[in-house]
Amino acid sequence: MNKGIFIVFEGIDGSGTTSNSKLITAWLEKLGYPTIWTSEPTQSDIGMLIKKKLKTPTLDPHIDALLFAADRIWHIEKIIKPNLEKGYIVISDRYFESSIAYQGAQGVDIKWIQLINKNIISPDITIILDISPEKSLERIKNREIKEKFESMDFLKKVREIYLERAKIKNYYIIDAEKEINYIQEKIKNIILRYIQENYSSE
Ligand code: TYD
Repeated sequence: MNKGIFIVFEGIDGSGTTSNSKLITAWLEKLGYPTIWTSEPTQSDIGMLIKKKLKTPTLDPHIDALLFAADRIWHIEKIIKPNLEKGYIVISDRYFESSIAYQGAQGVDIKWIQLINKNIISPDITIILDISPEKSLERIKNREIKEKFESMDFLKKVREIYLERAKIKNYYIIDAEKEINYIQEKIKNIILRYIQENYSSE
């Protein structure tokens, strides 16, 4: 039985998933909740291979989808599941919806992405940090090495898929072009409400 809470941050490159998820982890720890921050691609051998491949053009996006799915199995077995079982709040910077959005935007069939990700643990809360592709490119232009996913047209497609999925799956969307305090407050409210509604008897 899962006793913890599984929270995922998603968004296009430069949307702030890493900084926001780390700030929220620190805030939850300060409140006294046992919390662990994790991310995809992971530190596993497959995750390291993926990170290397992010610098080179894709041979076939189905290969990427399979590698991300394999890395996710490692992630669930080694990090997510054991920590949820211990009662931790697990915060992940990217998860399954990144595969839907990024590999989907590369033309991979979404049904097939779902199939190869069958049996994964579903997050309790998914938060999409939404920014425009223009803002994204402005924010990531100073990064040293360009990754293959960082072009305007591509980011537009990725964002569209995220927003479409959010509508279907009722994910939270936050305007991440706003200042960080506004974004953090929104996220904190979402999480506190979830804790109150689900853990009020403790
Ligand atoms: P990375 O530089 O590690 O993260 P970020 O840009 O969030 O700081 O790159 C991760 C990239 O991998 C990012 O562009 C999204 C992409 N990605 C996929 O294409 N599919 C996936 O399933 C996941 C988890 C990530």
